[in-house]
Amino acid sequence: EKGTYPHYMLKEIDEQPLVMRKIIQQYQGNENRLTINKEIVEAMNAADRIYIVAAGTSYHAGLVGKHYIEKMARIPVEVHVASEFAYNMPILSENPLFIFISQSGETADSRGVLVQVKELGHKALTITNVPGSTLSREADYTLLLHAGPEIAVASTKAYTAQIAVLSILAAVTAESKGINLEFDLIQELGIVANAMEVLCDAKEEMEEIAREYLSTTRNCFFIGRTLDFYVGLEGALKLKEISYIQAEGFAGGELKHGTIALIENGTPIIALATQEHVNLGIRGNVKEVVARGANPCIISMKGLEEEEDRYVLPTVNEMLTPLVSVIPLQLISYYAALHRDCDVDKPRNLAKSVTVE
Ligand code: M6R
Repeated sequence: EKGTYPHYMLKEIDEQPLVMRKIIQQYQGNENRLTINKEIVEAMNAADRIYIVAAGTSYHAGLVGKHYIEKMARIPVEVHVASEFAYNMPILSENPLFIFISQSGETADSRGVLVQVKELGHKALTITNVPGSTLSREADYTLLLHAGPEIAVASTKAYTAQIAVLSILAAVTAESKGINLEFDLIQELGIVANAMEVLCDAKEEMEEIAREYLSTTRNCFFIGRTLDFYVGLEGALKLKEISYIQAEGFAGGELKHGTIALIENGTPIIALATQEHVNLGIRGNVKEVVARGANPCIISMKGLEEEEDRYVLPTVNEMLTPLVSVIPLQLISYYAALHRDCDVDKPRNLAKSVTVE
């Protein structure tokens, strides 16, 4: 039930700190350590390459998951859109492991790929919010999101839950290989949960940003580099889905290769700047678009902030920034849709779960 909330989407955005704590609790074993079913860790270690297959928001979480698995556990990962993979299977490695990410566990495009790879005799892990869902039943292994039912068509808490579970999977696999991560993920995810709370309390600021930048615009672009780029893709999807504003996420460095031609006087650009090693680069990209008349809204992280920034996120571990930087984008989309009188929970032309190919 949505209780006192006007929309499920807002309720589900607000649930994210709680879900984060629930995930920490659910994946915490003895001696304050994170644990994952031994069979799954063995399957990760037996793989010479991991193929993540998903759709929509779950695909965007997969992009972040690739970063985690490669950086922490040092296993190469490819991320594929399910509907493309199904009809254009890449050359597979000798010992692949498939990870299907799906909030509902019912997405037909993902299931189509699962059926194909099972026929080839490969192992599959499903990361889903719904125990007993089709993708969970048909895969060899399942990891649950513990996010509680997600009702709004626009996925919010499932995205952050997917990223958190992927970070745990990557960290536990790394540890099993004797890789020292130099941080305690339980502690870092706890810091994330607290930061999420701060952001859920920043609704007025986010409503103001939505009003100022998005009330009447035709389009909006999100830019970022590395993890910030992936979060930008998700921010753009949220905005398109519920406010019908044409929105796209771009890698900062790609702007000059074509997309900068789209910038006109007043075009809103939401720039994410949470990654120290690419901070100079993204700041340069902001200057490039401002020189062409763009109206920039920079969201940075404490420690990297500059005077021009519109909102500064609390500091979290640099790898975990997607868990916090996405919340302002979810809220901005929510308020943009409200300001434009759109049906937030049931956007036009969309279903919560896409069970046809
Ligand atoms: O249930 P799934 O995670 O498999 O769903 C995948 C997409 O259909 C879903 O994420 C969709 O893109 C959402 N409406 C995004 O908000």
